[in-house]
Amino acid sequence: MPPVNFLALETSCDETAAAIFTEEPTVLASVVASQIDIHRRFGGVVPEVAARAHQQRLLPVIDEALKRAGIELKDVGCLAVHNTPGLVGALLVGVSAAKMLAVALDVPLIAVNHIESHIYAARLAAGRDIFPCIGLVVSGGHTVLFHCKDALDFELLGGTLDDAAGEAFDKVASILGLGFPGGPAVEREAAQGNPKAFAFPRSFIHEERLAFSFSGLKTAVLYAVHGQDLTKVGKPANDLPPQRRADLAASFQQAAIDVLSAKCRQALRRTGLKRLAVGGGVAANRALRGALERMTADESAELFIPPLELCTDNAAMAAQAVERWRRQDFSPLDLDAVPAYQSGKALGKRSRPR
Ligand code: KG4
Ligand code: ZN
Repeated sequence: MPPVNFLALETSCDETAAAIFTEEPTVLASVVASQIDIHRRFGGVVPEVAARAHQQRLLPVIDEALKRAGIELKDVGCLAVHNTPGLVGALLVGVSAAKMLAVALDVPLIAVNHIESHIYAARLAAGRDIFPCIGLVVSGGHTVLFHCKDALDFELLGGTLDDAAGEAFDKVASILGLGFPGGPAVEREAAQGNPKAFAFPRSFIHEERLAFSFSGLKTAVLYAVHGQDLTKVGKPANDLPPQRRADLAASFQQAAIDVLSAKCRQALRRTGLKRLAVGGGVAANRALRGALERMTADESAELFIPPLELCTDNAAMAAQAVERWRRQDFSPLDLDAVPAYQSGKALGKRSRPR
C-alpha cells in the first residue's frame, strides 16, 4: 500500500498554512503565509481582515504545499483541519475548504484541536513517541498545562485565569512602544536589559494550584512605565530612556519565565512524569527555552520543544490527525468551527468515513 498523504489546513488566527504529511508521521511540506504585515498597522489581529486574507491566500498556499511535496491533489488521501479554538471567521475559511476538498476527493476528514497540535508539534519534531508527558502550551490566546496520557488523551491540569502568556508579551511590547508582533520584540529588547532591575509579581508561584495569571504582571509594567499618571495609559512610551526600556522588558520576561518554569516543575512532580513537551508561539523564546532546559535537567526529566518554525502557528502540527486515522476516527461533514476551546476528545465522532 502506498503511504497515505494527509493535507492539513490551519487558518485559526493570522497565519494561512497548509502541510502535507504521511502517516509515520513524516512532513513532506509545510507552507505558512503570515499576515503580520497586514495587521501591523492596526497593532493587533483584526478578525474580519484575517478571514478575508485567509480566503484570498488559502488556495495558493495549498498549491505551494502540493508542489513542494511533489504530489498532486488527487494523491491526497485524508483532509485534516484545525477547527477549534480561534477566530470564528478565520476558522470557517479552513473548515469550509477542508470539507469541500474531502467531498471532492472522496476522502475522510479529521478535525484537530489547535492547542493540542501545539503539543503534537513536539512529538513531530522528536520523531518518536513522547507520551505520557506534561504538555505546556504558551501561545497568544492560551496558556495551559495538560497531562498528556497518550497522543489523543489530554487531561487539562490548569490554565490562565486572565491573559495568555503571549498576550502579555504583546501588551507589554505595546506599552514599551516596541510594536507588533510583541513577543520577538520583547525578547530582543530583554537581551540588552537587567532581569533583576524590577521586582515584578509572579502570580501563584508559591501556591499548589496549577494556575497562571499574567494581567497583574502586565499592569505592574504599565505602572513602572507611567507611574500613577493615567492620562498616559494607552500611549506607547516612546520617551523611555533606552536602558530603562530594556530593563523593563528583561524584568517582565524573567517574571513570566519564572512562573511558567515553576508550574511545569510542579506538574512534573505532582504526576511523577519525567517528560515535558512545550509548544506555542512563546516557546520560540530563547530565554524560556534555556530556563526549561535547566529546570528539566534539575528534575532529571526530558524536554521536548520543537524548532522555532514548529512553535508558531503552522499546519504540520496537525499531524495528530495521523493518530485518529489509525483509529479510523473521522469527523462528520457537518463539522463546525468552534471559537472557544473544545477538547480534542470531543472532536472524533466515529462517523463513517466518506
Ligand atoms: O502559537 P502562536 O503562533 O499563535 C497562537 O495560537 O496564538 O503564538 C503567537 C504568540 C504571540 O503572542 C507572540 O507574541 C508570541 O507567541 N511569541 C513570542 C515569541 N515569538 C512569538 N513570545 C515571546 N518570545 C518570542 N520569541
Ligand atoms: Zn497557535
